[in-house]
Amino acid sequence: MSYHAIAIDGPAGAGKSTIAKLLAKKLNYTYIDTGAMYRATTYKALNLGVDLIDPESFSFLNITDFVFKNGELYMDGTNMTKLNRSKEVADNVSLVASHIPVRNKLVSLQQEIAENNHVVMDGRDIGTVVLTHAQLKVFLTASVKVRAKRRYEELKNAGRIITLEDIEKDIERRDKYDSTRSYNPLRKAQDAIEIDTSDKDIREVVDLLYKKYIKIV
Ligand code: C5P
Repeated sequence: MSYHAIAIDGPAGAGKSTIAKLLAKKLNYTYIDTGAMYRATTYKALNLGVDLIDPESFSFLNITDFVFKNGELYMDGTNMTKLNRSKEVADNVSLVASHIPVRNKLVSLQQEIAENNHVVMDGRDIGTVVLTHAQLKVFLTASVKVRAKRRYEELKNAGRIITLEDIEKDIERRDKYDSTRSYNPLRKAQDAIEIDTSDKDIREVVDLLYKKYIKIV
């Protein structure tokens, strides 16, 4: 049996995870949050005192035990949802995600999941690198202000105390890092449809993508 895939890419706060989750639910597909895998790797490296600047130090880090249950990531048996949202992880994740050994390992794990499940996968390089065969590729964008506000609400609801200004800075810094790194940067795939979600209702976007997708498959 061949499995189907929807690839959703875009910068932080563009609505990727909310849209991907809802779309996966509607289609009864598995939702894979690849950002959570890069965050969990960063968390582990920080905990083990790995030299974050040296790509080679990651070759020895065991990052294989990832399991997604109901859209939440478990690493080495631990639910990473809360741990992944710490400031320390946010400050370092783009650096860790720029290392070739880290990307190669996580990309192959992501491809393995998609070989065995129908997936909606979100990230930065899904349409361009991970799932180049995806039946539907989407590139979501939104203004920095809108994206920061969304992240702010998300973190506030999760109990984190943080200012909107700090979030805006974090988003701008990560956008720059993610789109200018030399290996697998954040880019729109040529065959992806681009949607600016700034003034759109998330459910409207989900419906639009759902309709497009069922016409394709
Ligand atoms: O999606 P999220 O904001 O949680 O991703 C955290 C970070 O992980 C991004 O800023 C980026 O540096 C990295 N990432 C990546 N490739 C992906 C997913 C995330 O480089 N496919």
